[in-house]
Amino acid sequence: MKKQSYTIAENRLVATKTYKLVLEGEGLVDGEFVNLEIPGFYLRRPISVCDAEEGRITLYYKTVGKGTAFLADLPEGSKIGVLTGLGRGFDADACKEEALLVAGGLGAAPLYLLAKKLKAQGKKVNVVLGFNKADEIVLVDEYKALCDSFELATLDGSAGIKGFVTDAISAMKPNYDFFYTCGPMVMMRAVCGALEGSGEASLEERMGCGAGFCYCCSIHTAAGTKRVCKDGPVFKKEDIIW
Ligand SMILES: Cc1cc2nc3c(=O)[nH]c(=O)nc-3n(C[C@H](O)[C@H](O)[C@H](O)COP(=O)(O)OP(=O)(O)OC[C@H]3O[C@@H](n4cnc5c(N)ncnc54)[C@H](O)[C@@H]3O)c2cc1C
Ligand code: FES
Repeated sequence: MKKQSYTIAENRLVATKTYKLVLEGEGLVDGEFVNLEIPGFYLRRPISVCDAEEGRITLYYKTVGKGTAFLADLPEGSKIGVLTGLGRGFDADACKEEALLVAGGLGAAPLYLLAKKLKAQGKKVNVVLGFNKADEIVLVDEYKALCDSFELATLDGSAGIKGFVTDAISAMKPNYDFFYTCGPMVMMRAVCGALEGSGEASLEERMGCGAGFCYCCSIHTAAGTKRVCKDGPVFKKEDIIW
């Protein structure tokens, strides 16, 4: 874990209530999520890393409450405190040759970094993204440019297949030896129930410290009590108690 100061290079509305936040600082960030220090708020806000390059982190966030609303108003050039190097992420090595990535909403953000890692390892990557409606869609062009096959679903049918990600998976009929999923709990439960074979899912819990000290993000798993921020947020499918 590292406490760093970053400069906001971009903080732009890219879809309904959804912002792309690009931070510039020093070094290459590792970890699955960062914890943002928002001025005037005691607790930091955890946001998944969508992309990380030397000196640059890309995040996507939705405005849901006061903290993210305040964040949306921060202008480019502002400084922001960031805790980096947090969380146990997806295990790219668990996939041998071909992966299936299934995301709902902003679950598309952390899976993008994974897709880049898998492609860098020479693996085939099949991606299914689901959103409520077309005006919530993000990252589709980025995924299409990177992946071997891509399918989109929206609940209202305003883009791609009308229905759930599970409908899009049925349409795609992907080959895979390992799957990864991130999104709303109800979606991940359906995905883990529908897909055969091994996989991982990224969980979300309310967090205090975000770094393993306060135990407020503890959950019961088949492998015992775990902290989502430190032992996760990514867990094996078979360890998750839905
Ligand atoms: C590991 C992890 C990764 C996340 N990645 C993203 C992401 O990439 N993009 C994104 O938009 N959101 C993400 N979230 C959810 C995001 O942290 C919350 O939406 C955000 O903290 C809400 O803050 P707020 O002040 O606007 O809302 P408020 O409801 O006012 O927040 C009150 C408190 O509850 C916490 N809280 C509220 N909702 C959540 C939530 N869903 N999960 C955890 N804590 C919450 C806040 O951090 C804060 O401490 C992630 C959460 C976790 C745990
Ligand atoms: S949020 Fe403190 S231990 Fe996870």
